[in-house]
Amino acid sequence: MNDFLTQNKDRFLNELLDLLRLPSVSADPKFKDDVIATAQFLKEKLEAAGADKVELCQTAGYPILYGEKMVDPKLPTVLVYGHYDVQPADPYELWDSPPFEPVIKNEKIYARGACDDKGQMYMHFKAFEMMMRENKLACNVKFMIEGEEEVGSENLGTFVKNNKKKLKADVILISDTGIIANDTPSITSGLRGLSYLEVEVTGPNRDLHSGLYGGAVANPINILCKMIASLHDENNHITIPGFYDNVDELSKEERAEMAKAPFDLEKYKKALDLGDIHGEAGYSTLERTSIRPTLDVNGIWGGYTGEGAKTVIASKAFAKISMRLVPHQTSEEITEKFQKHFESIAPKSVKVLVKPHHGGEPVVTPTNSVAYQAASKAYETTFGKKPIPVRSGGSIPIVAMFKSELGIDSVMMGFGLDSDAIHSPNESYGLFNYFKGIETIPYFYQYYAEMSSGK
Ligand code: BES
Ligand code: MN
Ligand code: MN
Repeated sequence: MNDFLTQNKDRFLNELLDLLRLPSVSADPKFKDDVIATAQFLKEKLEAAGADKVELCQTAGYPILYGEKMVDPKLPTVLVYGHYDVQPADPYELWDSPPFEPVIKNEKIYARGACDDKGQMYMHFKAFEMMMRENKLACNVKFMIEGEEEVGSENLGTFVKNNKKKLKADVILISDTGIIANDTPSITSGLRGLSYLEVEVTGPNRDLHSGLYGGAVANPINILCKMIASLHDENNHITIPGFYDNVDELSKEERAEMAKAPFDLEKYKKALDLGDIHGEAGYSTLERTSIRPTLDVNGIWGGYTGEGAKTVIASKAFAKISMRLVPHQTSEEITEKFQKHFESIAPKSVKVLVKPHHGGEPVVTPTNSVAYQAASKAYETTFGKKPIPVRSGGSIPIVAMFKSELGIDSVMMGFGLDSDAIHSPNESYGLFNYFKGIETIPYFYQYYAEMSSGK
């Protein structure tokens, strides 16, 4: 660790803790003022770190924070992307300490957003500050930090389309993913796409006495469960016609290469307290969570769920369903196929409504680019080990758009761990990871500038 980082460690940490105290939950309008306050907080920090032209760009939703430092037009330009919004913290009772009152325990920061993405995004602010103070900023840099990633980035999509000149850059740099382990660095070389929708099944026109009507009318909850269960066959393949039509099948060689990544099945089961794993026949756990598409129910409700019992046949049943997509599936195609199929399997005794939500396209990033090589070398410098490229199962919808709209590839230099429990209660981020990130990022700038100029 260099002197500047050592001397400023406490302040760097305290600033992140202040950021984590702001409950910037984009999904819940109750937190509207807090989300905006978070954008304002970051604007001040970016200015203080030395960025120019810092502004909050208004959108139809939450503001996008922009700022830049152009050192020399001859140098390559890095566009840093991150998000300041977080997932809802519910259920609060499962947290050991309140989600927006960060605490440090076992060398980890516990708070909603600690890893996803406030902790990781803020590493870039501090790495930038460090490079500025030490006069070491080797590339031009632009920051674009949004507040709606966790709800689909729709307004950012519009912003990107309308601001192509402003966002002109040679590479996009993102820390919003993870590494395999603290002694096994990796670089995310792909993300799955997403198709998210809600279904509503309606039976009778009102809730009914389950004794007087039970057995004679369709129970929408029973029917919904049956319909959902039929979406996978006995091999856990998805039964929607045409679902796999465009799936990019990897070659034997590519799969063998993937299988080299370290993975301990027993540890995996133990960490999740699972009796056994589960998934599509013919694929390994790593493949199931990266190169294969999925369909999962994310929430299901209907009828009486309060205290005690109520004998009722509900009029309606609901579910939220997500499908993770792989190249070359598209969210539009898959949403359409789902909708058509789901409507077709509904019995006449119920009505079905499918409501599409947001989507995102899958992406694979090159591992032979100058930017990837610079990132690889940066990790190698600070971890002492060459990072392994890993395709991740998660989604960051804007990454595919950066490529399609701006023609720019992303380098995903994540520092999180699976055990950080993002989106779950007790989300955390290791102090090791926070400071390692701040230490590693400047090497990326240095190597990227050197390698771009052919030095
Ligand atoms: N940072 C995550 C995505 C992620 C995490 C990718 C770890 C790879 C490794 C991001 O904030 C996220 O949660 N994305 C959502 C999609 C979004 C449209 C709600 C997701 O993947 O569910
Ligand atoms: Mn994220
Ligand atoms: Mn997230």
